[in-house]
Amino acid sequence: MKTNEEIKHSVRKEYTRVVTQATSCCGPGCCGSTDTETSVSRKMNERYEGVDSSIVATADLGLGCGTPTAFAGLEEGMTVLDLGSGAGIDVFVAAQTVGPTGHVIGVDMTDAMLEKAERNRIKLGIRNAEFRKGEIESLPVDSASIDRIISNCVINLVPDKRRAFAEISRVLKSGGKFIVSDIVTTGTVPDTMRENMRLWADCISGAVDKEEYLAVIREAGFHDIRILTEKAYDFPEPMPFGVFSITLEAVR
Ligand SMILES: C[S@@+](CC[C@H](N)C(=O)[O-])C[C@H]1O[C@@H](n2cnc3c(N)ncnc32)[C@H](O)[C@@H]1O
Repeated sequence: MKTNEEIKHSVRKEYTRVVTQATSCCGPGCCGSTDTETSVSRKMNERYEGVDSSIVATADLGLGCGTPTAFAGLEEGMTVLDLGSGAGIDVFVAAQTVGPTGHVIGVDMTDAMLEKAERNRIKLGIRNAEFRKGEIESLPVDSASIDRIISNCVINLVPDKRRAFAEISRVLKSGGKFIVSDIVTTGTVPDTMRENMRLWADCISGAVDKEEYLAVIREAGFHDIRILTEKAYDFPEPMPFGVFSITLEAVR
């Protein structure tokens, strides 16, 4: 069995490769996999309707599996946290909505992603956003300081999902919400696949059964848990479990 640290090392290595090789999101291999047949996040990436095209062209590497900002009910002045912010796409969309009186923090554990996101922030002239290095399981964010947490295709990559949702609970204000797009399964991923680090980085092997995912959220103390969108992913080859992208929200 791989340790959590070994898994995160592989994920970091893969997303360093993705961001250093990505010149656009149209070619194979730029979106979490050299194998475009298995890169779930690439296939599940949603279009950003109504978003400033310069933000999408600059910061969307095609790594998401939903558009959590579209469901987050963001308002001017809010403080927003994006978990696994990548090249910054959802941070920048949120920053435009919350305006100059609001603030958006993106947290990511991969140096190359953070560097790319900061270059993008400067290029786009966005002043009400910042990027912090850190892990979702131990967020570099004050307790009870955040109005909305968003995350796009990341929590499936985190080996300790209980700890991730405990941290989400710690940093949200009471009554604050998280809105997460992620990959879940119906049925359990076999151990042989769990050990495959390329499939893990491709958002497949780290995904857990939807009911287990919802149970972890309930156990972390959230209420009003609602699935907002759900879309099945069709693999070219038959798989022993179903794979879905979902967007869900819950209240602290
Ligand atoms: C599939 S990409 C998604 C990026 C971005 N949310 C988007 O939609 O473009 C996953 C990102 O999450 C980051 N990540 C994965 N596990 C993490 C963890 N445990 N803590 C912090 N960041 C993590 C990776 O470094 C990578 O940038």
